Amino acid sequence: MYNEKVMDVFKNPKNVGEIENADGVGTVGNASCGDIMQISLKIENDVIVDAKFKTFGCAAAIATSSTATEMIKGMTIKEALEVTNKKVVECLGGLPAQKIHCSVLAEEAIKKAIDDYLAKKNA
Ligand code: FES
Repeated sequence: MYNEKVMDVFKNPKNVGEIENADGVGTVGNASCGDIMQISLKIENDVIVDAKFKTFGCAAAIATSSTATEMIKGMTIKEALEVTNKKVVECLGGLPAQKIHCSVLAEEAIKKAIDDYLAKKNA
């Protein structure tokens, strides 16, 4: 069902885990399957210097989280907010249509983690 790139990232995911004393944390659930994902970010001067994820989800969710966290490292928070699930799926060479919803988790978790960072910063 998955292409080789997706399988490769799924088998060797990057950035698995949780950042201690993260500057922003976002947890989201997928209503259609019940899976959950958490992304934690280390942010310095509005630049994402580290990103990690923990996912209770399928291969597509793991592959897209790994790819999304790789993509946003080094980006400003403004740039990271423009990383859509579509861009992540393109980077992986596509996902089966019924698995596209899984890729939304990473996009939403990144947005939530950035919101958390901004809320703490402005508190
Ligand atoms: Fe739940 Fe893919 S089936 S995230």
